[in-house]
This record gives sequence, C-alpha cells and structure tokens, in this order.
Amino acid sequence: MNKQFKRTTVTSALPYANGPVHIGHLAGVYVPADIYVRYLRLKGRPVLFIGGSDEHGVPVTIRARKEGISVQQVVDRYHTLIKDSFEKFGISFDIYSRTTSATHHKLASDFFRKLYDEGKFVEKVSEQFYDEQTQHFLTDRNIRGECPRCHAADAYGDQCEKCGATLSPEELINPYNAETGNPLVRKATKHWYLPLDQYQNWLEHWILDEHKEWRPNVYGQCKSWLDSGLHPRAVTRDLDWGIPVPVEGAEGKVLYVWFDAPIGYISNTKELCDAHPELGSWETWWKDPDTRLVHFIGKDNIVFHCIVFPAMLKAHGDYILPDNVPSNEFLNLEGNKISTSKNYAVWLHEYLQEIPGRQDELRYVLTANAPETKDNDFTWADYQARCNNELVAVYGNFVNRALQLTQKYYDGVVPECGELTDFDSATFGEFAGIKMRLEELLENFKFRDAQKEAMNLARIGNKYIADSEPWKLIKTDPERVKTIIYISLQLTANLAIAFEPFLPFSSKRLRNMIGMEQFNWEQLGS
Ligand code: 2FM
Ligand code: ZN
Repeated sequence: MNKQFKRTTVTSALPYANGPVHIGHLAGVYVPADIYVRYLRLKGRPVLFIGGSDEHGVPVTIRARKEGISVQQVVDRYHTLIKDSFEKFGISFDIYSRTTSATHHKLASDFFRKLYDEGKFVEKVSEQFYDEQTQHFLTDRNIRGECPRCHAADAYGDQCEKCGATLSPEELINPYNAETGNPLVRKATKHWYLPLDQYQNWLEHWILDEHKEWRPNVYGQCKSWLDSGLHPRAVTRDLDWGIPVPVEGAEGKVLYVWFDAPIGYISNTKELCDAHPELGSWETWWKDPDTRLVHFIGKDNIVFHCIVFPAMLKAHGDYILPDNVPSNEFLNLEGNKISTSKNYAVWLHEYLQEIPGRQDELRYVLTANAPETKDNDFTWADYQARCNNELVAVYGNFVNRALQLTQKYYDGVVPECGELTDFDSATFGEFAGIKMRLEELLENFKFRDAQKEAMNLARIGNKYIADSEPWKLIKTDPERVKTIIYISLQLTANLAIAFEPFLPFSSKRLRNMIGMEQFNWEQLGS
C-alpha cells in the first residue's frame, strides 16, 4: 500500500437469502474479512465492516416457488438465519442489513436514475423467451427444450447435460418453461445496458497498470475478461421481484440483481451512519479519496467487483473505487464441490447445534486451510487433526502450563519480573519478530500464513517453559522462577492479542483469565 489512507471501508459479499450459509462462505469471505477488520480495530485504525443479505434476483424466487411460500417469506427466513449464524461465529459486522430495506431501494433507484438521466446507458430491444400463460420472461436456466445436437428432450437453455454441448436458448427445439412445462414464444422487450466496452481502456489502465498488487487469481481473471473484450451488459430484467426500474414505460421491469446488490454496500453504510452520527457521514466512507475501499468476495464474484461495479461507480462519478479485492478460490468438502441446490455442505446453523461452543475451532481450521491461492478441501479428518495437534497440543498446552504454574507457585498472582537473562531477552526478541511478520502478512491479506505465525508465539512459549524448567528451579532459585512465570504470562497476553483476529472467543476467555482489560496491537511483541 503506497498511499496512507485515513479510514477503511470493508465490505463482504452479500450472500443470497435463498438458503443458509455454509463453511464455504465462511472460509471464502467472512472469516478473512473479519480477521482483517479485527486487526485494523486493534491497530486503532478507523474501519467500518459492512455486510447484509442479497434479497433480490432469481434464486430467491425459485426457492419460494419450490417451497410454496412467498418470496418475502423466503428472504425473511434466510436473512434471519444467516445473520444469526454470522453473529454466532463472531463475524463482527458494524451492520448486517438487507437489500429489501427502504434505504437501499431509494439509493439504488436514485443511482440508476442518475446514470439514466446522464445518458450513461444504452437502450436496446431484443427478443426473449416468454411464457404467455404465466406472462413471464424466462432466464436461460429456466428454459428447456430438445437438444439440437443429440436430441435429448430436456437440454437447458445454456447447456445440454447429456452431450455436454454449450447452447443458447434460441438453438433449442420446442423450448418450454422448465417449471411449468408451458411452450415458449419469443417476444420483444426493452432493456438498459451499461456499455462496458466504453470503459475498456479505462479499466485496462486502472487494473492492469495500477493494481498489479492484486492477488494473482484476481488480476489474472480480470486480465482474461479484458483481453477477450468487454460488451454492454443489461442492468434491468423482466421480473416481478426487485427494485422497479425508475423510468416511465418500464413497468414490470426491475434492476438486475447484480446492479443493485453492490450498491447495497453503500446503502448499508448509509443506514449505519444515519443511526450512529458519531461515525460521521456515510459519504465520507464512500466518497472521500482518503478512504480505502476493500471488497472481500469469492471467485465467482470477481468480474462484478473488479469490472462491473467499478464501471458503475466511475459512470456515477461521485464515488471512490476499490483499492483491493482480496478474493478467495473455492473450498470443497471431502473432495466434492459444495452445493446449496444439492444440499451438500456443512451448514453453519447445523454446526452450531451439533458442536456447540466450537466456533473458534472451525474458524481456525478454515483459515489454516483457506483457499487463498487455489481451491482447497475441507475434511473432518483434517479438522480433527488440527484441533488436536495445533489448538490443543500447542496453543492450549502453553496457556495451561503458564496459568497452572502461576496458580501453583503464586496463587494466581502475577509475580515481579527480576533481571532478564540472555535467553529471556532472546525470547522477547522473538515476540517482536513475530509481531512484525504478522503485521506484514495481515496487511497483505495473507491470513493463512499470518495465523501460522501467531501460532509460533505459542511454540516459543512451550519451548521457553520447557527449557527454563521452573519446576526444578523452584527449590534452588525461586527468584528466577518469578521472572520465568512473569515472561510466560507476558507471552500469554501476547497470544491473546495476536489471536484476537483469528480466535476471538478464545482470546476473550484468555483475557478474562489473566485479567487483561485494555488491549491493543501495540502491546504485542513486548
Ligand atoms: O454470489 C452471491 O452470493 C451474491 N449474492 C453476491 C453479491 S455481492 C454484492 F454485490 F452484493
Ligand atoms: Zn445434447
């Protein structure tokens, strides 16, 4: 980071409120974002952590039809469940709101209208598939028909699962509505497009020249989109669920979910700041060039956050652009792809019920195995091994020894520190080294390595106690033992600070045990 920013707006992808959240969400987006935000708070740097549910789009409407309930009931149910799961996992949002809020509807609608009034969209009429009985236009995935290649009866509008051909809906023979089975006709419809092609040169310069520091997976994906040339993208849809297009003659049309969802970050910030004037104006967090904007997302969201949303912000003109977009790859589960629609996942609300009180264990394993540079696999065997061999055998073992020795020899009271030996000073030197490396890693979004580094503090602690052998010295040199215990407790305090971003629940317990009321990053390393 070259520029010194005054504050940071951190956003994390707004999950669709069409189902519960799972470990893939946590590992890919929310734990890394939370680690980063907790670190900034410990450093005393002003930060807002913005979250919320994405309640528009087709997925929620499909869920509603499947479950035979209203779309509003679907989003209410999952918004509540998701919010609760995040809270219980210690994801420390400053706000977790939703895109059905009145604030968001107005802000997104005004955003569209400004671009519309300034002529930033291109209007285009095209023919789309339409179900005359239900009076709905259909999305590609909802259209089925006979495959023009292998003549399978039920190919999708975008692909035939039997012969693997990539298709477009127009190629299907006798297309029909996948849900109702009704035959489809083609009907003309008008939509508004964001002419991304007009932003191509600007985006190339802004990303490829000015953001070479972005993660290679993010930079690479952007480069490949840019290399294949950008095209205008429709930002409206024919749907009856969403934010109405605020233009005369656009009845029955709503903003495309990927147009309104990222604006949700801004709306949620506004909702938060309006309710908490001490945070300053929401505009400072979105318009002041001294604010750093960071988006945490999963890899399927890269194009929207690095290309489409920045083009929208640029077209609008009043907003800052993301400074970084640390996107993770995917987490698989026992070798298979996690899937909401196939119900193949470890759901957070179920984990909380089945293994209560073990949130830090999951946070730890997901960070240790985070898919930062490539897809990774979660297995229960690895979960068990890391809990036993790292959390219990290294972290827990050190804390236990330090606290038990204090209890046994000094009734739980911190003894005075005597003169330091070379070994003691070298140990302090090692803490300071860890602090430096930890900062460097956290600043650069390398959370896996950062957590490993934090664990080294406990390793140093175990070695320090083992090599100092206080149980032998207590008879011959009790003064020396005071210093050893003092340093061990110092290390315990260091551990509580260093692990606060990663294991917030354990850190809190540890702070309570050692009576540490005030704590901040600067205490680390001493
Ligand atoms: O992929 C998803 O789950 C989307 N709902 C993410 C939206 S992120 C942002 F734009 F709101
Ligand atoms: Zn086929």
